[in-house]
Amino acid sequence: MTNTIWYENVEIKSFDQLNKNEKATVCVVGAGITGITTAYLLAKHGVNVVVVERNQIGSATTGHTTAKITAQHDCIYHELISHFGKEQAFQYYKSQEEALTKMEAIISGHEMECHFEKQDAYLYTNEDKNQKKLEKEFEAYQQLNINGEGLLELPLEQIPIKYGLKMREQAQFHPILYIKELVEAIIHHGGRIYENTPVYDIDHADHRVVRAVNQHTVICDYVVIATQFPFYEGEAFYSARLQPKRSYVTAFTSNKSYPGGMYLEIDKPKRSLRTIRMDDKEIWLYGGESHKTGQYKNEDSPYEILKRDAKQTLNVDKWIYQWSAQDYETLDKLPYIGRLNKKHPEVFVASGYRKWGMTNSMVAASLITDLIMDHKNPYEELYRPTRFHADPDMKQFIANNSNVAKEFIKGKLEGNSNSIDHLTEKSATKIKHNGQTVGVYKDASKNEHAVDTTCTHLGCELNWNNSEKTWDCPCHGSRFSCEGNVIEGPAIKPLNKVDLKK
Ligand code: FES
Repeated sequence: MTNTIWYENVEIKSFDQLNKNEKATVCVVGAGITGITTAYLLAKHGVNVVVVERNQIGSATTGHTTAKITAQHDCIYHELISHFGKEQAFQYYKSQEEALTKMEAIISGHEMECHFEKQDAYLYTNEDKNQKKLEKEFEAYQQLNINGEGLLELPLEQIPIKYGLKMREQAQFHPILYIKELVEAIIHHGGRIYENTPVYDIDHADHRVVRAVNQHTVICDYVVIATQFPFYEGEAFYSARLQPKRSYVTAFTSNKSYPGGMYLEIDKPKRSLRTIRMDDKEIWLYGGESHKTGQYKNEDSPYEILKRDAKQTLNVDKWIYQWSAQDYETLDKLPYIGRLNKKHPEVFVASGYRKWGMTNSMVAASLITDLIMDHKNPYEELYRPTRFHADPDMKQFIANNSNVAKEFIKGKLEGNSNSIDHLTEKSATKIKHNGQTVGVYKDASKNEHAVDTTCTHLGCELNWNNSEKTWDCPCHGSRFSCEGNVIEGPAIKPLNKVDLKK
């Protein structure tokens, strides 16, 4: 089983389901760090705001991040300069650095105790070809005036390197302690929050009407879609422009002391490392094994692989936690933040953070708040969700959509066996049952859970994720429990249950 460190000993306020029809100026859908920060900024400006969340506050990616607040987003600046030019690359960097500063100001303004601390961020490699890549990235840092340095060794002596790249004065924190305080502030400023309230549609007339699955509505002027994959696409084709990725984290104590720093290996398989001090213990967060959601190819579980690697180099004492998170990548690697499209200028979206959600959530919250308040924001064009650059978007667009087509067709051919006799406890298989592909999971008490493995979003075939015990969609990242309930992603309806006796 998996459990994240971020809810350990943290009591976050809980809220009722939407149990009446609501009215607000802005309805924010999604109570992760993006939705909560946006609602906080709006409420502070006196805007009447309602937040609706499918599950619980922070329960999706925000509660499963590694929570690095940094503008060092892997190797990106050299690539941005080549594709978009120096000015846009600098805009990206500046927006991310400003996000860090704004988060720091919020944290000190509210005197939050959320383990915020300044740390340097490091990229490193042990491969010749990636050394060249990092050297080019360092050149980009110099062009953009980024406070960085090329290195031949890391402060963390257990990890030898060929080359490293430092970005100074970045930060890390505890994301749930942070949003817990923002939630208090939203309520203080008159905002309302509803949990366990999946929504499925927006109607457009004089006002926007956000429709919840339980038939209640929020009537509002503006809607902010902060659900990672937008639950409402409004002909903006996000299904063709966002690629879901899953990655994994293990947490342990070590018998070596930690010299500080947040690290990311750029060689494949990539590895990420930071620590957090909790209850007088230094806990190391070691992550990686990223893959397209629903398409994990390895025989061994990602957690086992991470643990094997960590044991070899990092003096592991005791394993404590393990968890995974989902994020989306856009065609050109920049997030989509802003108005959904021309047809729906009162609907806003924020998605495609490419695993760098802490600063990007702040960028999104500030930008969307400015657009709603009719204030100028210098980053509106850079992040405009409807942008399309022939290079690099077209190549990635074709790759994303042939992947979806391949997974759609492949699924229809799966499920060769007719029997579940071989199925052991805590595992799953696909069988053919009455001509239909059915996924069957046998739980620890030997109960069988049989579901139709056709994704209820757009019909792709789901694959079993044995580490998380979930059915995951390789097309747009919807995930379902072994009983078929929606966990995350764009799907709204649960999977159809199948009676194997019929
Ligand atoms: Fe879109 Fe499954 S998430 S088809």
